[in-house]
Amino acid sequence: MCGIVGYVGTRPVVDILVNGLRRLEYRGYDSAGIAFCTPTGLRIVKEVGKVAQLEKKLIEVTTEAEQASAHLGIAHTRWATHGLPTEANAHPHVTRCGELALVHNGIIENYASIRKQLESHGTVFCSQTDTEALAHLIGAYYKGDLLAAVSQALKKVEGTYGIAVISARHPKEMVVARKGSPLVIGVGDQETIVASDVSAIVSHTRQVIYLQDGDIALITEEGPQIYTLDNASVHRPVAIVEWEIGAAEKGGYEHFMLKEIFEQPQALQNAIRGRLDISLGTAILSGLNMNPRELAAVQRLIIVACGTSLHAGMVGKYLFEGLASLPTDPEQAAEFRYCNPILGPNELVVALSQSGETADTLAAVRESIQKGALVAGLCNVVGSTIAREAGRGIYLHAGPEIGVASTKAFTAQVTVLLMLALKLGRCRRLSREEGLSLCQEIAAIPTLIEIVLKQAPCIEKIAAKYATVKNAFFIGRGILYPTALEGALKLKEISYIHAEGYQAAELKHGPITLLDEHFPVIALLNDIPGKEKTLGNVQECRARKAPIVGLVTEGDHEAEQVCDDVISLPRTTVYTAPVVTAVALQLFAYYVARARGCEIDQPRNLAKSVTVE
Ligand code: AGP
Repeated sequence: MCGIVGYVGTRPVVDILVNGLRRLEYRGYDSAGIAFCTPTGLRIVKEVGKVAQLEKKLIEVTTEAEQASAHLGIAHTRWATHGLPTEANAHPHVTRCGELALVHNGIIENYASIRKQLESHGTVFCSQTDTEALAHLIGAYYKGDLLAAVSQALKKVEGTYGIAVISARHPKEMVVARKGSPLVIGVGDQETIVASDVSAIVSHTRQVIYLQDGDIALITEEGPQIYTLDNASVHRPVAIVEWEIGAAEKGGYEHFMLKEIFEQPQALQNAIRGRLDISLGTAILSGLNMNPRELAAVQRLIIVACGTSLHAGMVGKYLFEGLASLPTDPEQAAEFRYCNPILGPNELVVALSQSGETADTLAAVRESIQKGALVAGLCNVVGSTIAREAGRGIYLHAGPEIGVASTKAFTAQVTVLLMLALKLGRCRRLSREEGLSLCQEIAAIPTLIEIVLKQAPCIEKIAAKYATVKNAFFIGRGILYPTALEGALKLKEISYIHAEGYQAAELKHGPITLLDEHFPVIALLNDIPGKEKTLGNVQECRARKAPIVGLVTEGDHEAEQVCDDVISLPRTTVYTAPVVTAVALQLFAYYVARARGCEIDQPRNLAKSVTVE
């Protein structure tokens, strides 16, 4: 969940590192730091707060001459796991009297025993972090060969790491290594850039190498030499990044989140493109590497995910069971990985992850492989760890999602799951005609979302009315229940309002006791089966004076009558209702948070990619 950038080359390093950190700030932003190599040794500058605070401090404490002389450096933006967000706990951490510096993403699980052993030999620690133990361990092994010292230290480490290390004694080289936390190497012209995410590299070069777990590399301006920790040479292919550089910019929107909400029609067109087979009425998902016979043999499907991705997986249950009669269990990945799951060759485990780096979901993938299940990854980030280790899967093609609150990834996940359900359904029970009809429904999703986006001004007005509430319920029935959960997560994530999602029928079993005139209920009243029952639940809420915001199919006057405020939605089928409704809820959450003046793209306490347990 932290951001790492490293550079070695012929250009001044400081601006390259600071600009790279800015691209990674969504990964974690409670403190930041930089180490760069000058003719007189390493300069270390760290600051609590965001990258802007670090940049301000750099101007105060370093000179232009120092910065101009530096062509090697590493930098880090932190999401605290061990130790409060303080300057002392910020990375880089140093050892050997400031001669060697390290930045780290991940958790050193045996740091306490390493620290105790080093302290017993006189090492003095100045932070509460696990990372500092690794820094001093490398320092202890250093005998003049930086790569060897890092290799030896990492052999003693339990846990996860993505690290970059520099030393004043080696002004033209950097050592990087990864195990469980992503690291990407950008190969430029007489320069090499390392980062935890491609978005910090793509403005310099499109030629990238994805390190894999267990890799360690010696980096110079000529590029990387990659090894195992036992010093065996390793080859990793060079990939070409296809993103447009602007794709990771705001494009004129006030926030990344708003940009990503409004680019969903395009994102979903990209997710769908080339994947609907109109002649056979099925989906083309070649990354699955499974033929119809193998798909028909699947007896149970388990979806492992976290957060918003878990909500998409919960929608998937209704899709797979409704279209393919395939028993489907959405599982919270952390719970799944530790419950000793009962799996076998006829179970298909689908790992849903936008980042493809979520530690709990990755662990669930590894456990599923261990148990002999078929495993597929549905990820947005190409080359991500989950995508690679699953061995098969489907990329979302939704483009970079920078806002911490996930939006287009959710709708892309549900759309891809719908195409997978179509494919499975056609292997088991759907006729060609039924499949063709579903293809047409899927193809229409981007247009339906365009219609919802046109409601933005109306949704903004309604959101302003609810910007000061302290609590809210989101209620939905059937396939709309996971969407209610997602709407609640969006609202609480960016506006810090306490919001909960419930099955509509559940309120009367307890939660309804909380309702009063200050406690709004956002009711998903789409005109699909179950609406009438939900209308009854809404009446129960109104009887307790709760204000009702209704998401209502256009023209449904019966539903409009029971709402204080109405967000009008285009008519959909059961299977396309979740993505269309989710977009309206994303806008509602966004405008409430904006009205409250919240920090929308980087909400407090959150990070974009949760790469620790
Ligand atoms: C969603 O708005 C949150 N940022 C969070 O719940 C996220 O969905 C979750 O951490 C899973 O991330 P992933 O999809 O990258 O695995």
